[in-house]
Amino acid sequence: MAGNPVVTDWTTDFDHTDKAWAADPYPIMDELRDTCPVAHSDRFGGAWLPTRHEDVSAIANDTEHFTSRSIVVSEHRPPMELAPEGIAPPISSDPPFHAQARRMLLPVFSPQTIDKLEPSTRAYCQELLAALQGKDVVDAAADYAAHIPVRVIANMLGLPEEDGDKFRGFVLHVLEGVALPLEERIVGFQQLFEYLMPQINDRVANPKDDLISFLLASELDGKPLDPFHVVRTVALLLIAGIDTTWSAIGASIWHLAKSPTDLKRLVNEPELMPTAIEELLRAYAPVTMARLVKEDFEFQGCPMKAEDWVLLSFPAANRDPAFFENPDEVILDRSPNRHAAFGLGIHRCAGSHLARMEMRVALEEWVKVYPDFSLEDAGAVRWSGGQVRGPRVLPIQVGP
Ligand code: HEM
Repeated sequence: MAGNPVVTDWTTDFDHTDKAWAADPYPIMDELRDTCPVAHSDRFGGAWLPTRHEDVSAIANDTEHFTSRSIVVSEHRPPMELAPEGIAPPISSDPPFHAQARRMLLPVFSPQTIDKLEPSTRAYCQELLAALQGKDVVDAAADYAAHIPVRVIANMLGLPEEDGDKFRGFVLHVLEGVALPLEERIVGFQQLFEYLMPQINDRVANPKDDLISFLLASELDGKPLDPFHVVRTVALLLIAGIDTTWSAIGASIWHLAKSPTDLKRLVNEPELMPTAIEELLRAYAPVTMARLVKEDFEFQGCPMKAEDWVLLSFPAANRDPAFFENPDEVILDRSPNRHAAFGLGIHRCAGSHLARMEMRVALEEWVKVYPDFSLEDAGAVRWSGGQVRGPRVLPIQVGP
């Protein structure tokens, strides 16, 4: 990302916003795992990067030494007073508060609730594909993948569909604006909350059949959830649901575009879709989350200091040969496949059923219309930098 010097030594000076990491992090992860499995950097005020599955898992499961007070690495640490709720409960919350904040979300994302959203999601994918008809080259990231999660989450929350560009702008700011000066960071977050607050206030006055109203009617500690908690959770759902799924759908199409054997197999054996989705999630896990070290603490011989960041690279864990056989190979019927793409420990993704449904429907509809496609220009593909990685420019040859 603009502003940070280029990395020359990944073991002592890594930077997950570096262009090389965005373009292809896997060889870097492999080298680190072999030579320095918990890398360190002075950037961002001190940060660590474990690359072995066992270390990522140990830290994700250790809420005694690591806090989720902030899960996006930047130069700034949010104030201690925000703990244990954090800025966006439950993802930024620590135990015991976390369990209550998470519990209330689970019914909304249960398999039964998500099944009901499948027909409208499918209809929307078909609509997007119909709009691309007649083109020989389409951008599968910008013209397809980017739109699906935005529409789905906007409908769930009861927010206007036509504000999609605005939502993508908020996401970009929160996840990729990490190098901005503090004042600009604050303005970006303010804009997000200024957009959402009138929507929350409107539901307080006029409850509707949507997720915002559901949250306002929920209770925490026997008391109605206050609108300040609701706005922060809604902000989380907007951020957590968009970039992640967009990235996962885009990376899957990217893989199939450059792997004709896998594409043919998926087209001829559609029953492979469920295991294929898991394998694509494993191989191209889009999300890396962070923790802050609570107090000085030695981990695997590394002298971690209070307020150091630790990047939980679920993508690196998913490529660890000690945990997965042939981790760099995409095997569409890999089973078992205990991947960490949705995280490990108490913060494991609450939206995983929704994400899987969106991925499955998006890929099913895509291959129905385009059973044969390839990368138009591999060099033109652009990946997002930072903690959520996926293709943002993805030109695909779909015609002759
Ligand atoms: C392929 C798409 C997705 C991926 C790869 C993904 C990945 C993740 C990961 C790795 C975590 C753990 C965070 C941590 O340990 O700090 C997480 C948490 C979470 N995700 Fe997802 N996510 C996806 C889609 C979604 C969607 C669509 C939603 C809902 C709209 C969602 C909502 C959440 C929530 C609420 C949490 C916090 C759970 C908690 O703290 O208890 N995610 N996700």
